[in-house]
Amino acid sequence: MTEEDEDRAATLEALVDAEQARFERLRPRSAAAWRQGQEHYLYGTPSHWMRRWAGGFPIYVDVAAGAHVRDVDGFDHVDFCLGDTGAMCGHAPEAVTRAVTRQISRGATTMLPTEDSLWVGAELSRRFGDCYWNLTTSATDANRAAIRIARMITGRRKVLVFSGCYHGSVDEAHVEIRDGHVGLRNMIHPNAVDYGAVATVIEFNDVDALEAALAPQDVACVLAEPVMTNLGMIPPADGFHLALREVTRRAGTLLVIDETHTLSCGPGGYTALNGLEPDVLVAGKAIAGGIPAGIFGLDREVAERLWAVVPRTNPRQRQSAHLGFGGTLAGNALTVAAIRAVLMDVLTPPAYAVMVENAERLAADARGVIAQSGLPWHVTQIGARIEIMFMPVPPRNGADVIAGRRPNLETLMHAFYMNEGILITPFHGMLLTCPATTGGDVAVHAEVFDRFVSLVRDAGVV
Ligand SMILES: Cc1ncc(COP(=O)(O)O)c(C=O)c1O
Repeated sequence: MTEEDEDRAATLEALVDAEQARFERLRPRSAAAWRQGQEHYLYGTPSHWMRRWAGGFPIYVDVAAGAHVRDVDGFDHVDFCLGDTGAMCGHAPEAVTRAVTRQISRGATTMLPTEDSLWVGAELSRRFGDCYWNLTTSATDANRAAIRIARMITGRRKVLVFSGCYHGSVDEAHVEIRDGHVGLRNMIHPNAVDYGAVATVIEFNDVDALEAALAPQDVACVLAEPVMTNLGMIPPADGFHLALREVTRRAGTLLVIDETHTLSCGPGGYTALNGLEPDVLVAGKAIAGGIPAGIFGLDREVAERLWAVVPRTNPRQRQSAHLGFGGTLAGNALTVAAIRAVLMDVLTPPAYAVMVENAERLAADARGVIAQSGLPWHVTQIGARIEIMFMPVPPRNGADVIAGRRPNLETLMHAFYMNEGILITPFHGMLLTCPATTGGDVAVHAEVFDRFVSLVRDAGVV
């Protein structure tokens, strides 16, 4: 590091400190709640993820409505984080509120199906492809089930993932490549798992590495997002998905496509938009409008292979073999009513059109600010999702992100944004629009981004 680099790093740290101090001044009530939360919560908040915001402590929410979140200090935010996609429908969408209120008064969970599930199953197939579905309580759970099924029907142990991925708290997907070595992402504790035995990790968009990794025919499934969204947005290279499908088929490896985040591409996710042919499709988060839910669907051939292992019906045996996935609350009446409302009235094709239009405008504005500043940054927009990255061109893989990322600059951006009344996903520069996002909200982002660029340029940290 040169002396100039050191000075720049120190200035950046001072800017982060200043924003965190401003954050605390603006939010005394959240600060007090955070202190109180330490008394009873393991990591201060009901979920440890809630503490991972750049202000130094989380804001405590008073009310979230549409595309806005007001905190307990009365501070309003335009919300482009949207619960890291869980609130892609917007907060408290009317149709979901109505459906959930009705269903909760009629019983939330009985471990029995409701007739709503019939419409939901048919609609999932209409949107995502003709699959056989199972509901879970989270996308994590759906991914775990997909992996388990892949192992059951292939008899193989390994799961292949792409470096920089995130698929929930799924052991097999915690691996990454850093400085050429395979390790565990984000300092995750190994948890007594022999990662080498159960997981293989390669770089995204690397077809040669894929061929080599699948050649020994010991990989049960590839688990992949169609566009990587969890280490900055990494688009697939031209032809990558065709190759991924062809190579997995040749190797007898199942292809699991995780649409949990890419549901933002359109009503049937990236899969429907681009004609992908996964063996298993997974989604979650937004699918039930914020009520915990996940889904996975097996293509008919894969379902038949599973039924050959565990038959679909067995009339004489009440205690049929259980499958080792899912849970008591999976597919409960409340969740199913919420999914029905989301698919019927909220995440509709016209709603997507508005979301994408606003995302396009947001991306164009941000690109305009970048062009004017001359900074070597770029913006990626796919469907309703936008990513601002502090590097000149979109990364091809996790290695590019690791090499080019500026974590402290991201921290500063997040803290600054919150102080200026904007929430974005706290892990990198990702924004999402929802049906309730307005042109006014988008314009606020353009102004705040412009101020952020001025701040970092004037301070000489970029
Ligand atoms: C692509 C992807 N899959 C799965 C998950 C897990 O979702 P959940 O935490 O709701 O189980 C996430 C969470 O961020 C995700 O980004």
